[in-house]
Amino acid sequence: MSLRLAVLGSGSGSNCQSIFNAIDDGRLDAEVVIVLSDHADAYILERARQRGVRAEVMDCGGFKNKFPLECQESVAALLKELKVDMVCLAGFMRLVKEPLLRAFPNRILNIHPALLPAFPGVEAWKQALEAGAETTGCTVHYVDAGMDTGEIIMQSHVPVMPDDTAQSLHARIQVQEHILYPAAILSAVARL
Ligand code: GAR
Repeated sequence: MSLRLAVLGSGSGSNCQSIFNAIDDGRLDAEVVIVLSDHADAYILERARQRGVRAEVMDCGGFKNKFPLECQESVAALLKELKVDMVCLAGFMRLVKEPLLRAFPNRILNIHPALLPAFPGVEAWKQALEAGAETTGCTVHYVDAGMDTGEIIMQSHVPVMPDDTAQSLHARIQVQEHILYPAAILSAVARL
């Protein structure tokens, strides 16, 4: 039976698109049953709607960065109701805590634009550039209560070029992210 996925994102959703593409070309036996965002105008929601996937905005109570526990509880209840097997964070910029972690133990994945444990947190590609790293990359990991601290599933390396800008480096990392995420989901599924 195919895997039931939920995708949570805050932005453009190119990683969500890479999951859609992997499903469509047969690399991933899965169905995205819902896409949730904390921003009503996030393009990730539009990508879902265009595909006919349920797309909803979560109510974060007006907080800019916090992911309120009540919100996490209602998201967990909704995802349970939809019989979701795995939750993929794809550019989701709030910290997931107990209510969701407890509901989906070892079933929440995140993609991060650096070679963790290096450069956790926001704009990791900028951090790599500013630190003068010669190589960076991307990581898919299980989500725990820390910030980008969960067990690593898979990583891809990306060289930093001498003339890289933050934008060019992030774009090159994203090419690898789009290959890595579907492959890492498969690997996590094999471990269920
Ligand atoms: C991706 O590069 C992802 O790795 C990053 O946000 C971008 C979202 O792009 N996530 C984080 O920084 C999480 N700490 P997308 O909306 O096009 O998938």
